[in-house]
Amino acid sequence: MVLALKHLALGVPDLKVGADFYTAFGLNMKETGDRIGFRCDDREHDEIVLIETGKNRKFNHIAFATDAEGFAKIQQNLKARDVELLDPPFPDTYDGLWFRDPDGNLVNVHVAPIQARTKEPEPEVNRPGVMNRKNAHGCPPFDMDPRPRRFGHMILFTPNILSQTEFYTEVLGMKLSARIVGDYAAFLRAAGDSDHHVLGFLSSPAPGFHHASFEMSSIDEAEVAAQRVFGKGYKHAWGPGRHGVGSNYFHYFRDPWNGLTEYFFDIDYVTADYDWGVDDFTKKEGMFLWSADGPPPKDFGQNYEADEH
Ligand SMILES: [Fe+2]
Repeated sequence: MVLALKHLALGVPDLKVGADFYTAFGLNMKETGDRIGFRCDDREHDEIVLIETGKNRKFNHIAFATDAEGFAKIQQNLKARDVELLDPPFPDTYDGLWFRDPDGNLVNVHVAPIQARTKEPEPEVNRPGVMNRKNAHGCPPFDMDPRPRRFGHMILFTPNILSQTEFYTEVLGMKLSARIVGDYAAFLRAAGDSDHHVLGFLSSPAPGFHHASFEMSSIDEAEVAAQRVFGKGYKHAWGPGRHGVGSNYFHYFRDPWNGLTEYFFDIDYVTADYDWGVDDFTKKEGMFLWSADGPPPKDFGQNYEADEH
């Protein structure tokens, strides 16, 4: 029923600090009073929304799009569970349904068309016995300006993976793509054609925001962009490497408040009519096949948001 992830909203102590970070990350911004919306170049909606709260960084809400049929079904499911419908957190945001999930996270579902992805040319990559690129340089231009293409997925901390997973699959119609054993993590995709995951949950003693991830067009783009992020003084967190869960290449950075952002490339994609099943990964295999800097750092799964409240 939920067909697309639209935006993540975070409450932050200082909008200017957030504007500097997400601009260095490659997003475009638009300021509206005590909020800033950020989006990739060709996107028609804000993908990250920062709200100035004057307090520590804290998850504020997530917004999803659906169609009229999905909206009616979700409305019915919420009613059947006596989930209270709430007012929007501020004016001039999405209308539709506002409610809290079992962890108390604020969620919006509204009816909106799903923006098509811009199709890019096939990469010409040479490999053993297959020379797709002849008489031409493979190295991208040294003055390339890598740009994130879209907000792909996000992960939330939760003290209860099972009840969160049950709510998002049964009430919002999302599909479970993969788990990490021991109820350590769960990864959900949208109800239609979808990336392997658009929302995930990571085990923690308290709710909170873990990471937001943006698609790049190649590893070269992701890593040149990473150098730009480091050049502005922001901290490397983990990678580059390749995840088992979702198969995507990854590189993670710390945002100014110890949250994480990620560039990703080549994530698994599942069509609505395909029975993907549920992959169960060990922690090691789910996290990575390889990573240039080895296993995730000790604080990769640390819930700084919970520590500060
Ligand atoms: Fe990710």
